[in-house]
Amino acid sequence: MTPSASDVLGNSPCFTLGDWNNKASVRNKKDNCLLPPKQELEFELESKYWFPPTFMPYLQHPLITGTDKKVKQKLTANHLIHFLDYTTVLEHKIVNRSVETIIHGELSGDIPEEMKSAALQLYTDEGYHALFSYEMAKQVAEYYDIPHRHLKPLRITLLFDFIDRTDAEYKPLAWFLIGFVSETIIAKELLNITCHTIISSVYQVLRQHLEDEARHSRFFADGFYYFWRSLEIDRQLLAAKLLKDIVLIFSEVDHPWLRESLCSTGFSAFQADTIIRPLLNKSAAAQRMRISAAPTFIAMKRAGVFDNKRNKLHFKEAGLIDD
Ligand SMILES: [Fe+2]
Ligand SMILES: [Fe+2]
Repeated sequence: MTPSASDVLGNSPCFTLGDWNNKASVRNKKDNCLLPPKQELEFELESKYWFPPTFMPYLQHPLITGTDKKVKQKLTANHLIHFLDYTTVLEHKIVNRSVETIIHGELSGDIPEEMKSAALQLYTDEGYHALFSYEMAKQVAEYYDIPHRHLKPLRITLLFDFIDRTDAEYKPLAWFLIGFVSETIIAKELLNITCHTIISSVYQVLRQHLEDEARHSRFFADGFYYFWRSLEIDRQLLAAKLLKDIVLIFSEVDHPWLRESLCSTGFSAFQADTIIRPLLNKSAAAQRMRISAAPTFIAMKRAGVFDNKRNKLHFKEAGLIDD
């Protein structure tokens, strides 16, 4: 028998997005995400970057540390545009596809009514995030006269390949799990951004996104708890394997894009590969995921995923967790 929401979540079921009508950016943030006039922007650029350097570990490579500030500035602009382009695609084609599995009854078991309503709100949020991410990326690309961006973000390609490899019967479950991982990781990724290091209008865009994502993260963590507890043991074993594969996809560095970004600022292909190589090390990638997916692992632990040794083994073998 499928348990009810209150059965599995005790006294604190949380299948809502809280005070969505007053808090969601799509409902109350009407600023149009415009960059300031050129003179003001150039004044800001004297002391700030486009994207937080702390999210760009390759800036610490000796080949980059000694370069002109303008080169680093352009690399942060490239990184921001890539992040925003990725966000635009992710929201529509990945996260909202995942949310559809909840809204349209594609998962096994009953969907609590409040969960369905919250999922519809979340779907709306993501549409707005895609819009303001697209608008901001367009303005930064215009500022640097960057032509049409043709590279599809690697993570998007890998996620679609993963879905293609999954049996038709399990695709809705795989989509839901992708949404869970994506939505519990992203809040952590944006958490440390401060207004002192990046252009103020970019900060506003990232900040308003982060505030919505904090609600989404909580919703998906509770939704995961609910669905996990309603899965039969054999489905749980399969889901744990899928989760490990998804987390590893999120650990991949988009090296084709990064090579192009570095070469656009004057690095040779050989230098670009030298800078990128340390980022591709598997154990370094697992180490990064231990930090950025920490909320995902906490939600999994809370749902009981690691109570089963066979589930735990997938993650231990991939270097993602300890005993
Ligand atoms: Fe979002
Ligand atoms: Fe979200």
